[in-house]
Amino acid sequence: METLLQRRPRRLRQTPALRELVQETFLRPSQLVVPLFVVDGEGEKQPVESLPGVYRFSIDTLTQKVIELYEKGIRAVDLFPVLSSGLKDAKGSEALRPGNLLTRTLQHLKKEIPEMCLMVDVALDPYTSHGHDGVLDVNGAVDNDRTLEILAQKSLLLAEAGADVLAPSDMMDGRVGFIRQALDDHGLQHVSILSYTAKYASSLYGPFRDLVGSTPQKGDKKGYQMNPANAREALTECQLDIEEGADMLLVKPALHYLDILARLREETTLPLAAYHVSGEYAMVLAAAEKGWLDADQVLLEQLISIKRAGADLIFTYAAERVLENLQS
Ligand code: PBG
Repeated sequence: METLLQRRPRRLRQTPALRELVQETFLRPSQLVVPLFVVDGEGEKQPVESLPGVYRFSIDTLTQKVIELYEKGIRAVDLFPVLSSGLKDAKGSEALRPGNLLTRTLQHLKKEIPEMCLMVDVALDPYTSHGHDGVLDVNGAVDNDRTLEILAQKSLLLAEAGADVLAPSDMMDGRVGFIRQALDDHGLQHVSILSYTAKYASSLYGPFRDLVGSTPQKGDKKGYQMNPANAREALTECQLDIEEGADMLLVKPALHYLDILARLREETTLPLAAYHVSGEYAMVLAAAEKGWLDADQVLLEQLISIKRAGADLIFTYAAERVLENLQS
């Protein structure tokens, strides 16, 4: 009988033991990076409507959360400040003020839980009144080189306050080298740079922008973030980031860009991260609220797919939720 001679892949799917035995990809808590949002005040834990399970914390409640996450096996958090509009201006000046919310948060966390790896986003959008990631020129476009100067200053402030990893997410040309040089010139050689190498001008950042209050007042971010139609360009960005001294690379968003992750995985030996962004998370939770999907199962499937495509680490709002299901 001819069928007996056929390869039968189902043989290895018959029992849980066999399936575990041949599983190729795994997710571990230490591979998840948790984005966290900090506001001024005390005792704050403000829910975010479009991101169930995500909160704006004040420094005290945030610290508790970070300790709890460490105990659950998380090894890195990525911090974003949420500012009142009164503190924002066209230049994002608050980003450079010593003693601002983010620097105080870093100092506090470093003291209370030094074991945790502290990452911070380096871009100006939480600080600018117009919502763009840099400062604008006379035509309203983001001015690359003036922005670099500010980002380098901001990087120094954050590194001195205790950041272990700086994550430039602004997509300015040359920023990795510029920031690296500034760090090295100031005795901060030990601070790493995780570069948002391929950050696409995606429509999936909506809930994040609502939460941070950074929706661009005018225009969009297509003048600096990448065109979703381009893949080869990601390789150019990757080569530049490596040359400029990046320690880790990141692709963002994740699921629509798994091909990019897979290509960068071939291209570099550096650790590769993916950002499973607010819209990717919110879509699942919204469908689950209607009873159309099982959020926990879909989130796990999303994250394992991102790993399978080549990511070593995943930034995700789903981290805490999926921790409990990681054994399956
Ligand atoms: C800012 C930044 C954004 C995100 C992370 N850093 C938004 C943007 O580029 O407008 C989005 C993250 C998310 O949607 O979860 N540079």
